[in-house]
Amino acid sequence: MIVAVIGKGGVGKTTIASLILRRLLESGETPVLAIDADPSNCLGHALGISTGRTLADLREELRDGADRPLSMSSSEWFALQAEEAMVENAGFDLLTMGRPEGKGCYCFVNNLIRDHLDRLARSYRHVLVDCEAGLEHLSRRTSGRPDVLVCVANRSRMAAETVRRSLDLYRDLHGSPPPRADLVLNQCGAGQTASVSAPFRQVLLVPQDPQIAELDSTGASLLNLSPASPAVAALAAWEVRG
Ligand SMILES: Nc1ncnc2c1ncn2[C@@H]1O[C@H](COP(=O)(O)OP(=O)(O)OP(=O)(O)O)[C@@H](O)[C@H]1O
Ligand SMILES: [Mg+2]
Repeated sequence: MIVAVIGKGGVGKTTIASLILRRLLESGETPVLAIDADPSNCLGHALGISTGRTLADLREELRDGADRPLSMSSSEWFALQAEEAMVENAGFDLLTMGRPEGKGCYCFVNNLIRDHLDRLARSYRHVLVDCEAGLEHLSRRTSGRPDVLVCVANRSRMAAETVRRSLDLYRDLHGSPPPRADLVLNQCGAGQTASVSAPFRQVLLVPQDPQIAELDSTGASLLNLSPASPAVAALAAWEVRG
């Protein structure tokens, strides 16, 4: 599956992506390629991993005439460097996309990135993408066609509106709705309820979790959340099969 975690800024995409990664790892659904597609590079922090070069760094280097052997094509150079930029972990690898492009034409390099990701994705059981806020990522189509959209929202109307527009955009881009969309209502209060209705397969209520706040403040990995964490318990219901 390609799982893309989307939603308005600050609703908890990176947190939920980390919890989904944890769920996949615990279920033995490995190896996973985790892609941080948010320019502010937060997934590495949430997972307690220090990241190195980003694909955006490679893109800039290539544009500036990267120092590569004459015998090597730019796509070969890119594949090799991207391999090195990946951070390997138990059960998953992390790839960080970095900032979006600056001025000028990046079509050639962006196509390299897309081709590389398409090829790379085939070596993993699942690809999990922590998207940037809003709709940019879906419209730039750097991550293939997601099989599962995990739409994260909170109680704000704007967050719900972003989810609605993302689903519309997906349909416009791909000609059909996503094969599966789940709704995660994050930072819910006690006693809040929700029922599943179209177009969502699952609706999960994730409570405000003091353990997450604790790990966030110390910079420790969200993969270290204890099984007793209410957010982990909420994500245990997330279906790992497409
Ligand atoms: N269920 C939760 N319980 C406690 N804290 C949470 C929870 N979900 C998110 N947070 C906290 O809320 C803040 C924002 O969450 P997060 O970074 O995951 O959002 P985001 O949607 O990825 O933001 P951005 O759009 O900036 O990438 C973080 O400090 C995170 O620790
Ligand atoms: Mg984030």
